[in-house]
Amino acid sequence: MLGKADFLSALACQCFNTEYIYAVTPGESDAVERLVRDTGPDTDIVTLSILGCYRHLHDLPAAGTPELSGLSLLQGRMVERLINEPRRETEIARQIRSLGEVQDATSQAIQAQYEVFPYPRWTSAEAVTRPLRFGKYIRQRFPLVREKQVPKGPIRILVAGCGTGKQAIEVATSYKGAVVTAVDLSRASLAYAKARSDERGLDNISFLQADILGLGDLDQQFDLIECMGVLHHMADPQQGLSVLKGLLKPNGFLRLALYSRRARSEVEAASAFAKDLEIDGSPSSMRDFRQKVYQVPPDQAVSKVVETRDFFSMSGLHDYVFNVHEQAYTPLQLKSFLGQAQLEFLGFDLPTMDVDIDYRKVNPADRFLTDLEAWEHFEADHPDTFAAMFQFWCRTEPTRL
Ligand SMILES: C[S@@+](CC[C@H](N)C(=O)[O-])C[C@H]1O[C@@H](n2cnc3c(N)ncnc32)[C@H](O)[C@@H]1O
Repeated sequence: MLGKADFLSALACQCFNTEYIYAVTPGESDAVERLVRDTGPDTDIVTLSILGCYRHLHDLPAAGTPELSGLSLLQGRMVERLINEPRRETEIARQIRSLGEVQDATSQAIQAQYEVFPYPRWTSAEAVTRPLRFGKYIRQRFPLVREKQVPKGPIRILVAGCGTGKQAIEVATSYKGAVVTAVDLSRASLAYAKARSDERGLDNISFLQADILGLGDLDQQFDLIECMGVLHHMADPQQGLSVLKGLLKPNGFLRLALYSRRARSEVEAASAFAKDLEIDGSPSSMRDFRQKVYQVPPDQAVSKVVETRDFFSMSGLHDYVFNVHEQAYTPLQLKSFLGQAQLEFLGFDLPTMDVDIDYRKVNPADRFLTDLEAWEHFEADHPDTFAAMFQFWCRTEPTRL
C-alpha cells in the first residue's frame, strides 16, 4: 500500500504536470502562503510534497538542494521532476543559440505566450526501436514518388516551431542518419526540448531560437521540413510557408499540420463563452473558466472542451482556447494555400483507417486520396475528421509528370 509521503509525492507530480490547473479554495491558498512563509531549506519531504501540490518548487527557498539519498522512488521522482528538472531547464535556456531579435509583432506575442506556457508538456515520446531509411519510407508511403526523387544517405531535417521537442525527438530517432535542426521562438520550450533530448543521450538535434520569418538567414537546406501546428499562429502563414519552401533542397519534402475550421467549432464556442464572461488567459482566470465550463449543460458545444486532453493542463488550455493568434482552414483553403506556394499536395496522415475506407467508398476515382475538393465535401459530411489537425505532406517537384 502507498504510504502518505509517497502518495503526496505522486500527487505533487500530477499537479505539477497539469501546471496547477486545479481549482483552489481561498482557505487552501492562505494555508499554502503560511507554509511558504514558515518553511526553510531543511523542509521535510512531506511538507515539500504538500507545497508541490500547489505551486512550483524550484524557485522556492524551502526547496533548497534536497538529498536524494533516503528518499523512496516516488519521492525521488518528485524532487527530480519538480525541483531539479526545472532548474536544469533554466540553465539550458540561457545557453540556447539565437538567430537574432524577433521583429514581427505577432511572432512577439506568440513568443511571449509560449515562454509562459511551453506546450505540449509531454512526459513520454513514441519509442522508436528501428529507425527507417527516409527514402524507403517515402516510397512506401507515396508510391508515385520516383526512386531518383528521394534523398540518399544522411538526411537533414528542419523542425520549424519545435515547441517542447517531442516531434523533434521522434523525427531524430525515426530516420536513419537524421541530422535535425529544431527551431522555436520560445526559449522555455526549447529548454524543455533540449533537456528531454539530453536525457535520451541524443546528439543529432541542434536547438535554435528563431522566428520562421528569419530562417532565410540560415545557411542550410533541408531534405525534410516538418512544421506542425505552427504556421496558423503567424500573421501571414503564406509568408511563413514561402520561407520554408526556400529552405528545401530541390527534392525536399514538407510535412505540415494546420487547424481544421470545421473540427474546431467547440473551440470557437469556448472562446466566445470566455469572452462573454470576460475571462482572459491568466492562470487564475483559466481555473475559473474550467469551473464555469463544468456547469454548462452537456448539450451545449462549449461543454465538449471537457473531453479534450488540453482541458487538463494550463499550457494545453491556453493553447487550445486562449491562443493569442490563430486561424483555421478548410480543405479548399488548403488547396489555395499550397497552390499559391506552388507546392504539390501528396496526402494526409489520416487519423484512422476508417477515414481511409469511408473516403474511398464515396470517392473511388481518387486513388491516391489527394483531391482536396473531394475532401472538402467529405469533411462537410464528417466535420470531426481532422480534430487532430490536417496533417499532410507536400513537395516542390511534381510527382506525376
Ligand atoms: C502548438 S506548438 C506546436 C509545437 C510542436 N510543433 C508540436 O507539434 O509539438 C506551436 C509552437 O510554434 C512556435 N511558433 C509559432 N510561431 C512561430 C514562428 N513564427 N517561428 C518559430 N516558432 C513559432 C511556438 O513558439 C510554439 O512553440
